[in-house]
Amino acid sequence: MALSLPSLMILLTTLLLTTEATTFIHSRAAYYPNSDEHGTDVGACGFGSFGATINGGDVSAASDLYRNGVGCGDCYQVRCTNSHYCSDKGVTVVITDQGSGPNTDFILSRRAFGRMAQTKDAAASLLALGVVDIEYRRVSCSYPNKNITIKIDENSNYPYYLAFVLWYQQGDKDITAVQLCETQNFVCKLLDRSYGAVWTTTSPPSGPLSLRMLLSGEDGDESWIVPVNNIPENWKAGETYDTGVQIDI
Ligand SMILES: *[C@@H]1O[C@H](CO)[C@@H](O)[C@H](O)[C@H]1NC(C)=O
Repeated sequence: MALSLPSLMILLTTLLLTTEATTFIHSRAAYYPNSDEHGTDVGACGFGSFGATINGGDVSAASDLYRNGVGCGDCYQVRCTNSHYCSDKGVTVVITDQGSGPNTDFILSRRAFGRMAQTKDAAASLLALGVVDIEYRRVSCSYPNKNITIKIDENSNYPYYLAFVLWYQQGDKDITAVQLCETQNFVCKLLDRSYGAVWTTTSPPSGPLSLRMLLSGEDGDESWIVPVNNIPENWKAGETYDTGVQIDI
């Protein structure tokens, strides 16, 4: 039976998409020698305490994948390739920092590095190597029972200067722009990414604020997410506000 051209195209596209979703990229990874068993609250992404606790401490600094902060909060499956020590599954890490070692794409927390191993003994051997060959691929982040949450940065100064990061963004897409809109007259203001995952504005709009987040996929698709909840009129530095929305995965 001969395949018609359209069905052949569909078959090829399906194959390409399937391969794209599962292809691992070869690289190397090191770890923070002095890192604790958890993440870091001082990473270049500006996540604050979220960075210390997120994903049980399976976090990483990225070099190129940091992408000027756009890569902050991305999730990657990372597995080392030495079959004596390494598990097939590896570890899933969240990017919370920027950094590079000798030809590495990732500098994992010590905990995450050890978790690529099959056993405790193998983990000790891996850690002794310091830098290892790995394969990685981007995966969806998953935060069961969490909505995207706005954390107002401690350096914010009500009502003149507003800085915040977004916690618990699920999925494998990027938030590439953020707008704040007045709820009364819908005047919107595009925010700046000051560094990492930190969005800022001087002279923020007043009143309760409606946030809009532009979600961008690798294939170029874009959509605006509009939270259910507003940032209250009298927002406070250091507070967290639940947006009431999450990205389905
Ligand atoms: C997420 O937001 C919805 C409202 O959109 C709310 O009903 C739900 O309780 C929130 N979930 C959590 C874990 O806060």
